Amino acid sequence: MPRYLQLGRVPPKRHTAHRTSPGYKNEGLFYEEVITTQGFSRAYSIVYHLRPPTRVRKVEPAGELPVEVARQPALRHHHLKSGAMPARGDAVTGRVPLLTNADVTLSRCRPAQPQAELYRNAAADEVLFVHKGRGTLHSLFGPLPFKPFDYVVVPKTTTYRVEFDPAGGQPDLLVIESAGTVGFPPRYLNPDGQFRLGAPFAERDLHGPADVAVTDSEKDVTLLVKDGARLTRYTLAHHPFDVVGWDGFVYPFTFNADDFEPITGTVHQPPPIHQTFEAPGFVVCTFAPRLLDTHPDAIKVPYAHSNVESDEVLYYVRGKFGSRRGVDESSFTLHPRGVPHGPHPGTIAASKDMTRTDELAVMVDTFRPLNLTKQAMDLDDPSYPYSWLE
Ligand SMILES: [Fe+2]
Repeated sequence: MPRYLQLGRVPPKRHTAHRTSPGYKNEGLFYEEVITTQGFSRAYSIVYHLRPPTRVRKVEPAGELPVEVARQPALRHHHLKSGAMPARGDAVTGRVPLLTNADVTLSRCRPAQPQAELYRNAAADEVLFVHKGRGTLHSLFGPLPFKPFDYVVVPKTTTYRVEFDPAGGQPDLLVIESAGTVGFPPRYLNPDGQFRLGAPFAERDLHGPADVAVTDSEKDVTLLVKDGARLTRYTLAHHPFDVVGWDGFVYPFTFNADDFEPITGTVHQPPPIHQTFEAPGFVVCTFAPRLLDTHPDAIKVPYAHSNVESDEVLYYVRGKFGSRRGVDESSFTLHPRGVPHGPHPGTIAASKDMTRTDELAVMVDTFRPLNLTKQAMDLDDPSYPYSWLE
């Protein structure tokens, strides 16, 4: 969780009257809402609304966003080329799920139009990795600006709207939906809850909203709520971004991949040094530009390995990828459990005199097997398993 934050006006003690005048229906109060994680067991925030957050005028089914898993008759490596995917839908409806299991779903999203309705994911934390585009995530916690290579972490149940800046070009997102709470690797934190000296990033690299932005509107507004595949449309009796103040540990925040301080060694360091986030069932790692290994005989690309009890997804973001041939920006590779993979032929020799790499990639390692969707198989290069022969 990011650090404690307090924005706007909150009363000196929680669960006490936060007075205003005249207030909704002349009650003289702002209305408290406690936003928790894992029931009431873990981090929470307390927000104060102009009006009670429970005022719903209509609830109706709004269809489904089904994730259609493709049958996989063989266990093999995959290379999905997603760079040419057409723009479609908006930042919510335009998501194309590619890889999924019970813990996590990875989608690509190249929105073609502004977000039509407010949105809330009731069942998953979302990490929106901004490959391209800039803009603002508007939520009840206040506006949160984002830029290329930001991870925008949105706790489940946050009502939000993504607004892209047209000057930022065609937006392009990798969307990670996590059934469990997304947090940081516990080993990065000292017993006092602070990032340790030596962790690859720290509190100053995490950015939450800078201020609240109160929308005072009694007009009906629709909200699309997603839980799993199911979509429900709520018509709210007022705008939900009516928060005058809040405090706590639960709020959307950004972390930019270029703020990741890579750890290097005299010889190749293992993937956990790149870890950025941790969630039940998977980890997210950032392969950031870094100095390569300095031992005179160091092999500067990763050793071949069979990732036992783990499926390994790399999403290639920027730069030249030293250990891979044929991957482009926006390629995914999926190296499943139990089948070795390693540097492509020629890349060990080609990297011998290199001193640094400029590649940027996002890795998602899952501990349960991943399934490919039908849309993923449309992007699949079936010759990839044989790409180590020559
Ligand atoms: Fe690997």
